[in-house]
Amino acid sequence: MTDDDDSFEELSEEQIATFLNQGVLVVPNVLSQEEVTEALSGLHETLASHGVDVQRLEETGGHLQQLSSTGGSGGVLDLFYAEWKFKISTNPKLFHLTAQLWKAAYCYQGEANEQLHTEQFKWHPYGAFNPTQGYAYIDRVGYRIPTQLAERLGTISKKNKNNPIQRSLTPHLDCCPENPFPMNSKWRPIQCFVSLTDNMEPNTGGFEAAPGFHREFATWAANRPPTLVTKKGGETVALPAPCVGEYTHIRPREDTAVLQRVQHIPVTAGSAVFWDNRIPHANAYRHNGTKPRVVVYTSFLPNVAINRQYARQQLEHMRQGRNPPSSGGLWMNQSKTNAGEVKKTNSSILLEDKLTELQRRLLAIDDWP
Ligand SMILES: [Fe+2]
Repeated sequence: MTDDDDSFEELSEEQIATFLNQGVLVVPNVLSQEEVTEALSGLHETLASHGVDVQRLEETGGHLQQLSSTGGSGGVLDLFYAEWKFKISTNPKLFHLTAQLWKAAYCYQGEANEQLHTEQFKWHPYGAFNPTQGYAYIDRVGYRIPTQLAERLGTISKKNKNNPIQRSLTPHLDCCPENPFPMNSKWRPIQCFVSLTDNMEPNTGGFEAAPGFHREFATWAANRPPTLVTKKGGETVALPAPCVGEYTHIRPREDTAVLQRVQHIPVTAGSAVFWDNRIPHANAYRHNGTKPRVVVYTSFLPNVAINRQYARQQLEHMRQGRNPPSSGGLWMNQSKTNAGEVKKTNSSILLEDKLTELQRRLLAIDDWP
């Protein structure tokens, strides 16, 4: 398929309605079986270059630890740049699906909040934009190994507690409820991953989300209860509800009602999963299956000023083989991740003259018209 091919799949009215109502949409067969196989073998090669032999995970899986800056949370690995991964991140079909959802679910003509009546969840402060244009957001890879294996590869603490090399990523938001529209980083209304494995059963390391929550987000954010901390002397103090960088932990005690709505989302290999970034989501508490669960986190940023700036910065990082600008923002305070502290973990393989016109625009090498 080329950039100019107009045979892209259109989302059905039902699929668009699902995204509008639920804020989560699974689109099957975005990648063909052949593309899934190719991506998996690319990933396995990448992992082998870091000492992980996927056929011998019992012996070599310990090396996964050095690829995780999250302490193994969610099986998320700091693998950003590889040719097989670029191919998915700039996949024309995936971009076209995202663009259709932007158009349906977010204001793009500069509408005022008051004009929207029952659809205020569509509003944002970034102004008008062309929903057919955007940028690739380069993200990580998810490679969650079964929990029992993660425990065998882990360590035992002095208190005889097992510290597995991987664990879940508990329910969270990748935005701050108090400031869902930052003016100093990026606007990513839709988050996305492409799954390279089937993940149909709960508790097999897969994706979980609270459907529909994006429509209640603003009300919830305005009324979020403080965190109650009981001090040694028995005194209870109320602290502001936390958001670190752009990461908001959904708290077991204060946010119980939200937690109860988080459910497993079944996904087949080759599917893309899109979710509104106001939807609380998680990676399952356990992986009771037998094979690693594999996804490529990859999404797009609409062509608005703040994202043009982000995409240009991302391109510079890519050219220099440095991790993407916001790669620290997920788990640490963005302001601490200045240019000097950005790690160089894997070099860029971006062969710019071999890219298509669409790829060059998605990566901000060329401007959109
Ligand atoms: Fe997340």
